[in-house]
Amino acid sequence: MTAVLKDPIPAPGRPEPRPGVLAIEAYVPGKSHAPGVEKVFKLSSNETPLGPSEKALAAFAEAGRKLEDYPDGSATVLRQAIATAYGLDPARIICGAGSDEILNLVAHTYVGPGDEVIFSEHGFLVYKIATLASGGTPVVAKERDLTADVDAILALVTPQTRLVFLANPNNPTGTYLPFDEVRRLHAGLPANVLLVLDAAYAEYVRRNDYETGLELALTADNVLMSRTFSKIHGLAALRIGWAVGPAHVIDAMNRVRGPFNMNTPALLAGAAAIADAAHVEKAVAHNARWLPWLTEQIEGLGLKVTPSVANFLLIHFPDTPGRTAKEADAFLMKRGLVLRQVASYGLPHALRMTVGTEEANHLVVAALTDFMSGNGPAGQETGGKDK
Ligand SMILES: Cc1ncc(COP(=O)(O)O)c(C=O)c1O
Repeated sequence: MTAVLKDPIPAPGRPEPRPGVLAIEAYVPGKSHAPGVEKVFKLSSNETPLGPSEKALAAFAEAGRKLEDYPDGSATVLRQAIATAYGLDPARIICGAGSDEILNLVAHTYVGPGDEVIFSEHGFLVYKIATLASGGTPVVAKERDLTADVDAILALVTPQTRLVFLANPNNPTGTYLPFDEVRRLHAGLPANVLLVLDAAYAEYVRRNDYETGLELALTADNVLMSRTFSKIHGLAALRIGWAVGPAHVIDAMNRVRGPFNMNTPALLAGAAAIADAAHVEKAVAHNARWLPWLTEQIEGLGLKVTPSVANFLLIHFPDTPGRTAKEADAFLMKRGLVLRQVASYGLPHALRMTVGTEEANHLVVAALTDFMSGNGPAGQETGGKDK
């Protein structure tokens, strides 16, 4: 289905944004506070409970000692570190202030008024924002079992299609497409349509039929793969993302990119983080232990959990008054457990939970047990300050 752009009627006599801009519903980040609760566990934005690598923290501290110079606008150190980690040509890599910037850059580079951009029903919200901000038209493909549907996407391709965004795995569902399906999607797209494979959670996936899209990005002329340092590398605050793709795509995006879009502390901390494979492995192992445990425990309470391959799970609640997602969110919040409501993703009956520390995971299961059995919200309320 094609979304119709409906901007409010412009007021005469004042500057008006381009068509599409006022149709954007601004992105609302996950909450980080639980008012009146002593200890807060932020499980709302898929950050890592392990924090960043010590080596990244040391590089960040060192970089903070010299802030008067502009950063290297070519992000040489970081691109080289990424290239070394993945065996890539640094010339095929572009870095951005988070993969958000990469996703926006690619839209600004390839999409204009009259152009269409396809993404799936419960896809990452930034795809719609980037499309509208570029003056393009979002085209939403239905999903099947909360999973992207290749046939539904291909059926929507028209001569106006410029981009297809696919998060694999997807946020907020945690589902993924096996790589055969991604290849089938690519094979079905016209050569002038750019397929953007957003692999923000790739490191967490432990499935033999999953691939990040790296090989396609290296061999096809119309595939870009984006990645982030915000999730497994624990550097969300520094805003570091990157993408790899055909030389002509990287060249075009570099022309649009701000000349100093990355800051020096981010460049140096990112380079140190990606070189610390042991830290990444620790995070993978932590997730591999707690994701199945949480799924099993929460399903044991009679709640449906969408099978996830990422570092978060989507928990579905009934419609029954007293048991709804909204009420569960409020209940958990009173215990300092901050999850994410996902009504803005078309999932009003679900909450998304990031896999947390051992302590946080146990507390969520205990709280949900009480919630489902109707035991009051007695928690760690202190009536005190919001930390
Ligand atoms: C699927 C997906 N892509 C991209 C991002 C953007 O991450 P960042 O801009 O922090 O790199 C996120 C963050 O939540 C995400 O879930």
